[in-house]
Amino acid sequence: MQKLEVLGAAKLKGNVNISGSKNASLPILAATILSNKKIFLKNLPKVKDIETMINLLKSMGSQIKSDKKNLIINNYKQNKNFASYNLVKTMRAGILVLGPLLAKFGRAKVSLPGGCAIGTRPVDIHLKALSKLGVKYKISQGYVHAIAPKGLIGSKIHFPKISVGATENLIIAASLAKGTTFLSNCAIEPEIKDLVNFLLKMGCKLKWVSKRSLKIEGVNYLEEASYTIMFDRIEAGTYLIAAAVTEGNLKIKNVNPTLIKTEIDILKKIGAKIKVKRNEIHIIGCKKIKSINLKTAPWPGLATDLQAQMMVLLCKANKKSIIQENIFENRFMHVAELNRMGAKILINGNKAIIDGNTEFAAAELMATDLRASVSLVLAALTTKGKSLINRIYHLDRGYENIEKKLQKIGAKIRRVN
Ligand code: UD1
Repeated sequence: MQKLEVLGAAKLKGNVNISGSKNASLPILAATILSNKKIFLKNLPKVKDIETMINLLKSMGSQIKSDKKNLIINNYKQNKNFASYNLVKTMRAGILVLGPLLAKFGRAKVSLPGGCAIGTRPVDIHLKALSKLGVKYKISQGYVHAIAPKGLIGSKIHFPKISVGATENLIIAASLAKGTTFLSNCAIEPEIKDLVNFLLKMGCKLKWVSKRSLKIEGVNYLEEASYTIMFDRIEAGTYLIAAAVTEGNLKIKNVNPTLIKTEIDILKKIGAKIKVKRNEIHIIGCKKIKSINLKTAPWPGLATDLQAQMMVLLCKANKKSIIQENIFENRFMHVAELNRMGAKILINGNKAIIDGNTEFAAAELMATDLRASVSLVLAALTTKGKSLINRIYHLDRGYENIEKKLQKIGAKIRRVN
């Protein structure tokens, strides 16, 4: 099994080109199921989760090929409405095909998802909301068996809790439902806005009627569409933190800085110097990192997907900091490994209390989930020795060419068997 070897003490310097967003690409790929017309997608990241979603679509009959710039999807021969456990087990976003399959075929059998070990991650909100569109479902042997006897019918749905995935599933499903759907208490992450923009390009009729409410008029005709996926704001945030924690000097390119403003403001507060241009963020890390208390929250709050990386940074702060995790109940899997490297982090419920002034020591480490894995890479980059990170398949799910991008900016990192 592949590992990452990191030789520490790197001050990262140079330019980083940010890839397309994994979390925007996944629902957009699922939404292509709605259409029988050709779809051209640009800027998909080359990461494992996207490969898995493409294989899932192919397993249902989609024809998918790529030219130099585009992934070209043709679903007119798609004839299966079954998403197998084998394809969905590694990736929670597999559940996102449920809404579009029901919209297209009126029935679907989709495996309950796997994904990161960061909590129980149920799909009850997806299922209850779909039942309001006329879906009947039962769960048996790890699969959701769902049917819409009269097709999907527009309805009013108020999400009991903000959920990115449930909002996406419902937006996609309602786009082909009969009549009008009103969704309220929606997640409004930039990736959701990207999905809405893609659906508009295909000819769907969606309109934001207030900050968290969307009106969707079902359509029965879709057009050929071409769309460029937004940048990956979590990848961008990770490299910003990498610069801050290594006293580096990086230009983060191909980004829209307004979509990562919360994280930029936090990094400024802890002492990093940041200059923002239209498509670029220039960050210079500082010697003394100031402590700060943080809370994860739905957009526009601090992204939970950057919590582990922020924690590495705060381990090196001048005083004690607290991070409160408000999205997932078990997202502190990285803490045990960081403590093995010399951090002093105590967990109390959903709070991590982080003593500052840590000099991380190199170690052999175990990656546990996607973002936890990258936090170990960040910590390893600050040490004076050689770290080996196991189970890096977690990293490959979401970071394109991570070791190559890091090598290019001066990190001593390589993939070993
Ligand atoms: C998405 C992102 C993930 C990010 C998360 C929160 C993708 C592919 N993944 O995950 O990277 O960390 O948003 O920004 O885009 N919940 C329920 N029942 C449900 C659905 C969710 O209880 O039916 C709970 C979850 O357990 C969690 C919270 O709601 O505690 C938020 O989860 P959600 O926003 O749905 O996250 P995902 O869409 O899975």
